[in-house]
Amino acid sequence: MASEVMGRTNHSIVSEFVFLGLTNSWEIQLLLLVFSVLLYFASMMGNIAIVFTVTLDTHLHSPMYFLLANLSVIDMLFCSITAPKMICDIFKKHKSISFGGCFTQIFFSHAVGGSEMVLLIAMAFDRYVAICKPLRYLTIMSPNMCLCFLITSWIIGLIHSLVQLVFVVDLPFCGPNILDSFYCDLPRLLRLACTNTQELQFMVTINSGFISVGSFALLIISYIFILFTVWKHSSGGLSKALSTLSAHITVVVLFFGPLMFFYTWPSPTSHLDKYLAIFDAFITPFLNPVIYTFRNKEMNVAIRRLYSRFMHYRKIS
Ligand SMILES: *[C@@H]1O[C@H](CO)[C@@H](O)[C@H](O)[C@H]1NC(C)=O
Repeated sequence: MASEVMGRTNHSIVSEFVFLGLTNSWEIQLLLLVFSVLLYFASMMGNIAIVFTVTLDTHLHSPMYFLLANLSVIDMLFCSITAPKMICDIFKKHKSISFGGCFTQIFFSHAVGGSEMVLLIAMAFDRYVAICKPLRYLTIMSPNMCLCFLITSWIIGLIHSLVQLVFVVDLPFCGPNILDSFYCDLPRLLRLACTNTQELQFMVTINSGFISVGSFALLIISYIFILFTVWKHSSGGLSKALSTLSAHITVVVLFFGPLMFFYTWPSPTSHLDKYLAIFDAFITPFLNPVIYTFRNKEMNVAIRRLYSRFMHYRKIS
C-alpha cells in the first residue's frame, strides 16, 4: 500500500483536496455544528444501546435482533466515516483532506454503505419469513443462515467498493483540488482528474446506481409482497403490518433517496446533492435505532430489564 502511494505521487501534483463545506454563513455554520454534534452523539448512543441490549439480554437472541444489532454496528461505522471530520472542519478556514484520507473515505463509505444495503434486504427477508411463513421461521432463519447473510453483505460491500476504487486510485490529479462538498466521493472527485473520465463516470453510475436502485427496488417489492400476503390472509392484521412496515419504508426512502439521486442524476448542477448527503451522514444512522427499535415493545422491555439489573448490581456492590 505504501509503495502504491509513493508511486502515485510521481504523476500527481495534488497532495490534498480542499472542501468548500456547506456554507459560509456564520449562523448556519453554528446551527450545523449544534445539529451535527447532537445527531452524531445521539446515533452513537442509540446504536451502542441496541448492541448492548441485544448481546446481554437472552430474550432477544433471535435472528431479527441479531440482524438489528449488526445494522447498528454498520450504522456506527457509517456515520463515523464522514461526520467527525465534518464536525471538526466546520469552523476551519482551510478544510483539507489528504490524498490517502480522501480515498480512505471513499473506500469505507462504499464498503459500509454497500453492506448496509444488503443487510436491509436480509432484514426485509427476515420479516417476510416471520410474517408469511411463521411456522418455518426458525428453520429458515437458522443461525447459519444469519451468518451467511452477514458474510454476504460484507463481501458484496467490499467488492462493490474495490471495483470502483481500483480504477480511480491511479488517476492523475494535477490541477484544481477544490471539492464543493464536506466529504470525498467519486462523482465530484472524478471531475477533478486531469484526464478524460467520461467512461469512469459511467462505470461509477452503473456500479453505485445499480446497487442502490437495485436494493431499493428489491426492498420496496418485498414490503409490498408482505403487505399483500397479510391482506390476503387476514383483514385485521393489515393495519398493524402497515404501521410497522411504513416505518421501515420511511428509513429505506430516506437512506436510498439521496444515494440514488447522486449516482443516477446525470450532472448535478445544483447544490442539492450536498445537502441531501447530510441525510445519509447524520439522519439515517440516527433514525434506524429510533424506528427499528425504540418503537418496538420487546426492545423497550429489555432495555428496562437491563437497566434495573444494572442498578441492582450497583446497589449490592
Ligand atoms: C451479528 O449477527 C451474528 C449472527 O446472527 C450474531 O452472532 C452476532 O452476535 C451479531 N452481532 C452483534 C453485534 O450482535
